[in-house]
Amino acid sequence: MDDLRAKYIDLIANAADEATLEDLRVKAVGKKGEISLQMRELGKMSPEERQVAGPKLNALKDEINAALGAKKAALADAALNERLRAEWLDVTLPVRASRTGTIHPISQVTEEITAIFADMGFSVAEGPQIDTDWYNFDALNIPSHHPARAEMDTFYMHRAEGDNRPPHVLRTHTSPVQIRHMEKYGAPCRVIAPGRVYRADYDQTHTPMFHQVEGLAIDKDISMANLKWVLEEFFAAFFEIDGIKTRFRASHFPFTEPSAEVDIQCSWVDGQLKIGEGDDWLEVLGSGMVHPKVLSAAGVNPDEWQGFAFGMGIDRISMLKYGIPDLRAFFDSDLRWLRHYGFASLDVPTLHGGLSR
Ligand code: PHE
Repeated sequence: MDDLRAKYIDLIANAADEATLEDLRVKAVGKKGEISLQMRELGKMSPEERQVAGPKLNALKDEINAALGAKKAALADAALNERLRAEWLDVTLPVRASRTGTIHPISQVTEEITAIFADMGFSVAEGPQIDTDWYNFDALNIPSHHPARAEMDTFYMHRAEGDNRPPHVLRTHTSPVQIRHMEKYGAPCRVIAPGRVYRADYDQTHTPMFHQVEGLAIDKDISMANLKWVLEEFFAAFFEIDGIKTRFRASHFPFTEPSAEVDIQCSWVDGQLKIGEGDDWLEVLGSGMVHPKVLSAAGVNPDEWQGFAFGMGIDRISMLKYGIPDLRAFFDSDLRWLRHYGFASLDVPTLHGGLSR
């Protein structure tokens, strides 16, 4: 028995892996293992002999089992330590440059706009990109046969025969969000609504999908002067140029009265677009005092409330700020372009940290 113990304790101690250990378990305490066979011999012994040999064999079996268990745990620990050592990763290393993605200029500019307007007390509202023609037109004082519908180059959603749900369109502007917001939250309010809009148009400064940000401020005594101040404040912050030249032109929109369009001074030289110089102008937004009919359509009493609204082209002001001459490039997904004009992913624009590092 002492020989058996010495043999197995030694073999177990030197086992290099779990398979060897399992092999030893079978040989020692398995059904036909050496110790099990010895136990079978007990039946042939005299009661006196059995009384001595029985407990000894049992103790030996327990000891071997314990040694096997301990060695198994030790092997598992060693394997884990080896894995931890081999799979060790330095998480403090910088990201590999070849894998750096960039933030699209439109996303970056949307964040910049949001930061500036948030600072002036505006929150962000949202609406659907597929909307009914009521929200996109009627509620905004553009009835069915109004010429403004034709001017918008609207994409209408296909309707199956017999479908009598209201006609849906891809929204042609972010103005329907004005209606949805006032319907839900009433007045007073101060919101911007950035998002995608769609019109069937395509050239150097037009794409069928583009981005606008709507602004809406409704209160008891809001005037055109407030509109002008807010926009000038915005442009100075956005372009980081104090006293940047803007041009307010009297205009017409069915949903505002009076209305103004705003242009920004720029120059195009050798395909380069520069802001704040030259004698060209780029139209960047439409604006005005919200029409009483629009307030009524959204459930706001026009005898009690008034305010301004504007709709600005996000792509347009991005082109100006970052000198991007062709709007279509924004949506070409050209990797070289994206690397050149994209932004580092952790540079979140804030007023205190800087808008466009
Ligand atoms: N919705 C108008 C457009 O897309 C812009 C606008 C918005 C004008 C709000 C006035 C007030 O051209």
